[in-house]
Amino acid sequence: MKVWLRRLGGFRGRAVIAGAAIVFSLAAVVVAGAQQPKAAEAAKGKLAEEVYKNIKSLKGQPASQLIPTMQFMSSSLGVSCSFCHEDNAFEKDTKDEKTTAREMIAMQEGINKGHFKGKREVTCNSCHHGAQHPAAVPTVPELGAAIVEPEHEHGAHKAPQVATPAEYLDEYYKAAGGEAELAKVTSRTEKGLVSMGGPEAVKFESYTRANGERAALLALKQGTATTVFDGHTGWLAYPGRHAREMSTGEAEATRVESDFEFPLNFKKRYAQFRVGRPETVNGKPVNVLSASRAGEPPVRLYFDQGTKLLVRVVYYVETPLGRNPTQIDVTEYGKAGGVMVPMKWVVTRPSSRATYAVESGDSSAIEDSRFEKPATTEAAAH
Ligand code: HEC
Ligand code: HEC
Repeated sequence: MKVWLRRLGGFRGRAVIAGAAIVFSLAAVVVAGAQQPKAAEAAKGKLAEEVYKNIKSLKGQPASQLIPTMQFMSSSLGVSCSFCHEDNAFEKDTKDEKTTAREMIAMQEGINKGHFKGKREVTCNSCHHGAQHPAAVPTVPELGAAIVEPEHEHGAHKAPQVATPAEYLDEYYKAAGGEAELAKVTSRTEKGLVSMGGPEAVKFESYTRANGERAALLALKQGTATTVFDGHTGWLAYPGRHAREMSTGEAEATRVESDFEFPLNFKKRYAQFRVGRPETVNGKPVNVLSASRAGEPPVRLYFDQGTKLLVRVVYYVETPLGRNPTQIDVTEYGKAGGVMVPMKWVVTRPSSRATYAVESGDSSAIEDSRFEKPATTEAAAH
């Protein structure tokens, strides 16, 4: 069944591309026909602005290059001519996309002039790769496609509002055991195994408080790797290395991981929620909520439409050059202390993947010392 679906997907993909190619060449023929009276012999050796009516960006280019140029732009963006043009009135500037394309042409020239000695190194395709919206965030391998940042979702693609954000969260809280029960748990200690693709799984321990404090320990061969977040500042300590202070982005992102264990925090922390287009996660339909607050990249929450539980969280760490994505998929929930908690989850980043499995846990109080800055160096233990 799975294989069959995958084949169908591949076939449809190819059909779309073939269809697009046909549209391109047809349009070229139609346009060439429309230009025929003037263009037939006239186009030969003429410039684009001498043959076409409204040329601004491609002035000085041979007229013969115009349609191939159009085809290049179309395939770089994975669109048809009508994405930028009115049918049968290619000279009109009525579509914003056409205006944007002119700005992009200027930008491309600027980049190449300014950074590549005028050599045409960067093109539409360098960024767009066959997509309308270039992916600013590295691809998470398992997704097979780029994560679309919520603020880049354009109005036209948005699904009709099927529920309010509050409804999704309320359903989730109910499914997890109810807000009253969830509020009773304020500390959580978990122990289990994490596998990072290698042959052996390593032990992990995590200590989390509902106020956002979190400490996670990994028993690596070289020693213990520790991640601590005290509610404001975070540190990463690898065996034999100085503890590194987290960037603000990393520290903020760490909160998301503790919110995961204390889901009432989602409602408290974010100023704004927006309902996104429903998607599928591991073959199951999910409702999507994008949560944001000032100064931070939005966090995306995915709720299983059947169980109502949170099955995926995607968050971003801001860096000066772009955003790094992390995706957490909960693959198994279990009952602990009267509420449903993640028992197995997978953390995926563009270059790594780790599967966590909880083996034991409790909700007794955690000592404060757990959340102090880790020792600056920790020699290899074993
Ligand atoms: C990404 C946007 C975009 C796509 C897609 C696109 N075009 Fe264009 N097209 C433009 C822009 C921008 C111009 C104006 C260029 C200039 O100012 O020099 C233009 C100009 C033209 C012109 C000249 C019209 C005139 O008389 O001034 C023709 C003809 C044309 N396009 C045909 C096509 C065809 C055919 C396709 C599909 C194969 C296509 N275009 C796809 C953006 C696009
Ligand atoms: C340096 C990277 C880069 C290059 C090169 C580039 N683009 Fe873009 N383009 C972008 C980004 C980023 C956006 C905004 C995407 C979004 O809103 O999601 C964009 C948006 C657009 C849009 C608007 C899409 C929409 O749905 O409204 C058009 C049209 C477009 N580009 C055409 C072009 C064309 C044509 C070229 C080549 C001449 C080009 N771009 C080259 C990065 C680039």
